Amino acid sequence: MCGIVGYVGSRGSIEVLMGGLKRLEYRGYDSAGVAVLDGHGGIDTRKHAGKLGILSDDLAATPLHEGTTGIGHTRWATHGGPTDENAHPHLGDEGRLALIHNGIIENFGELKAELLERGHSFSSETDSEVAALLVGEAYRETGELTAAMLQVVNRLEGAFTLLAVHADQPDVVVGARRNSPLVIGLGEGENFLGSDVAAFVAYTRSAMEIGQDQLVTIRPDSVEVIGFDGQPVEAKTFEVNWDASAAEKGGWPSFMAKEISEEPEAVAKTILGRVDDSGLVRIPELDGLDEATLRDIDRVVVIACGTAAYAGMVGKYAIEQWARVPVDVELAHEFRYREPVLSERTLVVSISQSGETMDTLMAVKYAREQGARTLSICNTQGATIPRESDAVVYTHAGPEVAVASTKAFVAQITAMYLFGLQLGQVRGTLDEGRARGLVRELQAVPEQLASVLSSGERIRELAKWMADTQSVLFLGRHVGYPVALEGALKLKELAYIHAEGFAAGELKHGPIALIEPGQIVFVIVPSPRDPNSLHAKVVSNIQEIRARGARVIAIAEAGDAAVLPYADEVIRIPLASPFFEPLLAVVPLHIFGMELAAAKGLDVDQPRNLAKSVTVE
Ligand code: F6R
Repeated sequence: MCGIVGYVGSRGSIEVLMGGLKRLEYRGYDSAGVAVLDGHGGIDTRKHAGKLGILSDDLAATPLHEGTTGIGHTRWATHGGPTDENAHPHLGDEGRLALIHNGIIENFGELKAELLERGHSFSSETDSEVAALLVGEAYRETGELTAAMLQVVNRLEGAFTLLAVHADQPDVVVGARRNSPLVIGLGEGENFLGSDVAAFVAYTRSAMEIGQDQLVTIRPDSVEVIGFDGQPVEAKTFEVNWDASAAEKGGWPSFMAKEISEEPEAVAKTILGRVDDSGLVRIPELDGLDEATLRDIDRVVVIACGTAAYAGMVGKYAIEQWARVPVDVELAHEFRYREPVLSERTLVVSISQSGETMDTLMAVKYAREQGARTLSICNTQGATIPRESDAVVYTHAGPEVAVASTKAFVAQITAMYLFGLQLGQVRGTLDEGRARGLVRELQAVPEQLASVLSSGERIRELAKWMADTQSVLFLGRHVGYPVALEGALKLKELAYIHAEGFAAGELKHGPIALIEPGQIVFVIVPSPRDPNSLHAKVVSNIQEIRARGARVIAIAEAGDAAVLPYADEVIRIPLASPFFEPLLAVVPLHIFGMELAAAKGLDVDQPRNLAKSVTVE
């Protein structure tokens, strides 16, 4: 939550900051603000409640002094509502220092009481202003921003990324992080800080990681990283593997439309480089977990939240079948609070697009403390979760800007399949012939996805007709069940419609009572070639709900005639073996959620109350 950007160099900082904030806006859009060192020994700030556009219009109407050092923030409110006063930056040292914050300072109450006692007054309800005033006080004492920040971070509890500038040090931005994201962008005669690389990728693709409990000081010609203990730290650099155009809309009506169109590419790129010449999976990054470890694990626990957890549920079915190892999928926020039983033979696989989700990060840390091995499936380079894990398999979906996840979902499932295939190969539970066959089928998925996308017109029409619908149910079985959950989540978060996903077998245990005449139900129909004969069972479910008046939209494979007499609409997907169906069946549901929200006139990229990267618990 919250997007943070910092700049020092020779460009006009407003342009850099506002460009960075635009690309980070998906992280929070309740309010936004900037502070620039005005080049005349002062600080100019401007902040507004509401989306970034409000700030940007105001800056265009009444420009700030142009300076070449500054910080910017786009907020997702935690402490204090989304008002002008609570927007960042906050000021300290009598307006000579500006500070922005992402995270939650847990001991802010006691620190605030101290500050009040010392005569400070507050102009916001935020925990962040406490940090601004404390760093301001420490600056008075030390006369140096890095030293001041260092003094304060050691007093703060909770999660935070802080960035500060001081009017007395016109060429310096200082950043600090604990359990909240921050990366450094390295330029020529300029340097950047950002919540993620999107903040600065328009200017440089050269980046540097900053670890937990570390502090960075950027100047135009230098970057210094130290620990919260004051000791210098050797930071790792990396090249960002996408450019700014990947985070632009590129002519699409929304980022979500663009990202859905990129689903085939997300799958193809995630497979790329992970199949060897003999047609078997070999993920080079899994070297962090050697073969002996993979053979030895007796249990896999997948931890993730939201859509990423549904990708984990799909992966569970495949891994259990191919690698014959039990797999549990847990919501990360539930995981560590029930003291799960873990051992060194447990492999904990975290799935996260952002790599920063606090619940998932904390669960990974907990798993490591308990001695479990950890693997991260992540889409964001330089993110925290991969760095906290023994090994990482990156999904190569490219930057996902729309708040609701789409292309990352199919990439996560693909990564889980690749991992399951390699695990099956290593453990000898999947013979090479079958493994090669599955790999070939997986490699065919991008083309199949492209054909699902090109025949998306019918689902678009349906979504438009249903713009007034109040409730939609989704049914699926086996790997179709998590797809049903994903379809329902997309509709809730994009179109604000009551939607629920159920395992079709659960219908008669309660949910069928919801069916009344006209109730729309999407049914993900397993292939008639399904070895578990689930097809016939789901067709019976369709008959049961139709008999009670439901309007059924079936997502069924090409040529499946059994659904025709019972479904009101049939959306076709290409023939694929059962495990690969979720990748295809989810696309019409992504399109449906997006189009229905658009038909209601809603912002599909930035749904209300949400933020892309949930960096607070
Ligand atoms: C739903 C959605 C969320 C995320 C969840 C986890 O469309 O995007 O449910 O999947 O917040 O986020 P990551 O994958 O970044 O950990």
